[in-house]
Amino acid sequence: MSTLVIIGAQWGDEGKAKIIDILSEKADVVVRSQGGNNAGHTVSVDDEVYKFHLIPSGILYPNKECIIGNGVVIDPEGIIKEIEGLHAKGISTDRLKISLRAHLVMPYHKILDGIKEVYRGNDDIGTTKKGIGPCYMDKVERCGIRVCDLLNDSLFEKKVRENVEIKNKIIKYVYEQDTTVDADEIIKAYRGYRDILSKYFADTTVLVHEAVSSGKKVLFEGAQGTLLDIDLGTYPYVTSSHPVTGGVCVGSGIGPTAIEESIGVMKGYVTRVGKGPFPTELFDKTGKQIQDVGHEFGTTTGRARRVGWFDAVIGKYAVRTSTLTAIALNMIDVLSDLGPIKICVAYKKGEEIINEFPPSLEELALCEPIYEEMPGWGPISHLRSYEDLPAEAKAYVKRIEELCGTKITMVGVGPNRDQNIYIG
Ligand code: GDP
Ligand code: IMO
Ligand code: MG
Repeated sequence: MSTLVIIGAQWGDEGKAKIIDILSEKADVVVRSQGGNNAGHTVSVDDEVYKFHLIPSGILYPNKECIIGNGVVIDPEGIIKEIEGLHAKGISTDRLKISLRAHLVMPYHKILDGIKEVYRGNDDIGTTKKGIGPCYMDKVERCGIRVCDLLNDSLFEKKVRENVEIKNKIIKYVYEQDTTVDADEIIKAYRGYRDILSKYFADTTVLVHEAVSSGKKVLFEGAQGTLLDIDLGTYPYVTSSHPVTGGVCVGSGIGPTAIEESIGVMKGYVTRVGKGPFPTELFDKTGKQIQDVGHEFGTTTGRARRVGWFDAVIGKYAVRTSTLTAIALNMIDVLSDLGPIKICVAYKKGEEIINEFPPSLEELALCEPIYEEMPGWGPISHLRSYEDLPAEAKAYVKRIEELCGTKITMVGVGPNRDQNIYIG
């Protein structure tokens, strides 16, 4: 690998961070290109559990450069907490770089995220309320505030005052709420954040270019997942960025020909946090067992994750829309001792068989999964070689590979760094 993208191939939380952590060992640079602190990435090393939201998980290794690219939205208060948390565990952040072009999450973005969700009532999206959507809205509206603006006092003040004036009107007159934001308070707080963070600021497009063109090994750490992509996901139940492989290009400032490999991370089943149709969702005791054994509770919000059988229609869609060169299949240990295991191979809508993931949510909501059943297996968390996996588990992996249309090169049998099996 010289350039390798790792993305989520389902609805997020596929165990990307574990795969990124394993593969970071051989990387020189780790780059985040999209999303913000809506992401929750867990890395387990021996008895220590690290949770990342904005900082690339490569920071755990003492010699990797870690870059937060221009496509990421940065909550300065959040990233300072994360940096302090790492320092408290003795981990240096000297190798961290933050893009001068990245947009800042402002206090009014977080307030508006919460207010809009309440306003949507039963049609709420179930966002993380981290201000991600409103921040990306301002970016597209062309009134966003970027990291580089923090270095120009008068410009920063002007932009904050303009935004605060209009956001207070929106909060009061559109959403009829009493909350207000104060421009002076924001300006003071953000200058404080700037003083702490400015040593990390850089034109990261230059750093990424230099790393790629000098043949360094660059790993791009995806956040969220394919079905949360604003264009390709289950719109409107999506996030506001591009978690697919294509998003890496604009979010870090490289062209598509610079990407050599792209691994999609999947779970051996499917989870989703937040609302929206989910064809293979389980509401029975099998679903509860997977939720309990897999500890399926959100890293960022603590919400219980919805759980369902593996959906190969989604898998195939993720392979196609990110031109994935390989799949890392995590958490097949969670399926141990479950009895027969189901894989959704296609959908049925009335009499019609649907093989491709539908663009319309209304159509998706009418889709019934067509299942194939496969025999289950016993405990496997202790195994470290593919040959040692029970024949039933190997058959499951092979069937998923066949249905999704690209090779599975890694299989996860537990949360720890070493609970990973390479294939081939
Ligand atoms: P990410 O957002 O894709 O990085 O995933 P999260 O960290 O939000 O959630 C994945 C959870 O599954 C974390 O608690 C991981 O420690 C855990 N995990 C990762 N791989 C495996 C695996 O193969 N087996 C089990 N049992 N847990 C895993
Ligand atoms: P990682 O990187 C799972 C979901 C939220 C909600 C929708 C929109 O840990 O895989 P947002 O706050 O982004 O506007 O919420 O997207 N969501 C995630 N779900 N994993 C994530 O990140 C997510 N980031 C956002 O639950 O449904
Ligand atoms: Mg997560």
